[in-house]
Amino acid sequence: MDQMNRQAPIGMFDSGVGGISVLREAVRLLPHERFLFYGDTAHAPYGTKDKAEVLRLSRQVVETLLARGAKAIVIACNTATSAAAAALRAQYPDLPIIGMEPALKPAQKLHRDGIVLSLATPGTIAGEKYAHLYSLYGEGVVSLPCPGLMEFVERGELGGECLNAYLDRLFAPYRGGKVEAIVLGCTHYVFLKSAVARFFPQVPLIDGNEGTVRQLKRRLEERGLLAPEEAIGGTELISSGGNAEIMRTLLQAPENA
Ligand code: DGL
Repeated sequence: MDQMNRQAPIGMFDSGVGGISVLREAVRLLPHERFLFYGDTAHAPYGTKDKAEVLRLSRQVVETLLARGAKAIVIACNTATSAAAAALRAQYPDLPIIGMEPALKPAQKLHRDGIVLSLATPGTIAGEKYAHLYSLYGEGVVSLPCPGLMEFVERGELGGECLNAYLDRLFAPYRGGKVEAIVLGCTHYVFLKSAVARFFPQVPLIDGNEGTVRQLKRRLEERGLLAPEEAIGGTELISSGGNAEIMRTLLQAPENA
């Protein structure tokens, strides 16, 4: 690969601001890369739309990122990965496309005789990809679809009464039980770690962000596409819904916000 391609940006997208939690990790682990992040806020949420619609929206976003010269695509969204990754890989066989999935596999290592709660969007949980994952690592896992939860993060509401009331209802059946791990299977929920931890203070909260970025690094290395050491990295944030300000705030937020 020539210098041009190595220095091209990495395109990353989500239905909204959730993917910023992946971007934050990517900037930490790949400081020489340039990232072009697209939050499709105008069409959020993806998690309550049908698969064909999420695929159509994901295709549009990928076309925009490719038109801006992206050398690789990170689908920083579990829902869009489930609905669109396979079709996008078939459409762009030479393009590195890195997706995400709820972290049931690492959570399974913590499972003994209790339960693992897996929080994700209705679309992710209803998808074939999740069914396959569940068949491999679903022992003791209780899947909790969370319609309406990502909207708190979109509004920048990472705590407060309404959010606590939502989580209280969601967790009520499990609070007396032996919860061994909680999977945050939507990139928006990673910003709700503190809010979730109030209900389960000692329980590990697991997300797939670091694993996704490590996979991105491997894929770029294999293809000779990693930015050179002397390159100066950076981020550019685009939103179809005009809320780039919340994105910037979340990008700077402390890890456990
Ligand atoms: N952030 C997305 C995910 O990881 C989905 C949020 C949504 O649009 O419903 O699944």
